[in-house]
Amino acid sequence: MSINKESELAGMQAVSEIVANVLKAMREFAQPGMTSKALDDFGGKLLAEYGAKSAPSLAYNFPGFTCISVNHEIAHGIPTEQKKLQEGDLVNIDVSAEMNGFWADNGGSFVLGEDVHQHQPLVDASREILKMAIAQASGGVRIAQIGKIIETEAKKRGYRVIRNLAGHGVGRSLHEEPTSILNCYDKFNRQRFKKNTTVAIETFIATDSTYARAHNDGWTLLGNRGGFVAQHEHTIMITDDQPVILTASNNIW
Ligand code: CO
Ligand code: CO
Repeated sequence: MSINKESELAGMQAVSEIVANVLKAMREFAQPGMTSKALDDFGGKLLAEYGAKSAPSLAYNFPGFTCISVNHEIAHGIPTEQKKLQEGDLVNIDVSAEMNGFWADNGGSFVLGEDVHQHQPLVDASREILKMAIAQASGGVRIAQIGKIIETEAKKRGYRVIRNLAGHGVGRSLHEEPTSILNCYDKFNRQRFKKNTTVAIETFIATDSTYARAHNDGWTLLGNRGGFVAQHEHTIMITDDQPVILTASNNIW
């Protein structure tokens, strides 16, 4: 969305702060032995206490308050009683919400407890690359430039990117224009970032896969070649210079 009034900025700041705080609290609350459903219920309760509504549930009827994707799951993992988190799991939590007509989105991958499967380098790469990408997102810059940075930096570190998942505009709905802030360079995308608009920038850094495919539960996204994927996401406001990171308090970096 384009922010034209003080009240619109305040609305975006409020909902962004909430999703950031809920993500941070969920990351701290996650423990080995806990089911992903228990973790999601904790997040759902927090959202409700803040007066915000789960965006995936509200917009898409997603069966959970937040998306919790574990190990080989890339995104949109459904929280369930069956999924018990274990030491060393690669966990991704994505929290998005709506409040007073404003929407915000953020997420992050992390290693649960001790890094017994050596996922940390992948997580660090995703986090660092998001930081580099966001630093380049200013008014007038081509949106394709973000994909170029993410793809180049992933390759430099020996990783791939998921080519069919993307960051997106956010604000008056969960997904809005510009709808395709890809992780790879799309030379046909001539769109440019506009000052005072809000967008969600997100990485999908992969060890093996390059495409995400829906699992037969209709939600969970898996990689076409297996392996692992790390994601980090912030909702930001574009300016003439460095963007304002509206979800900065999630502490993903
Ligand atoms: Co998200
Ligand atoms: Co998003």
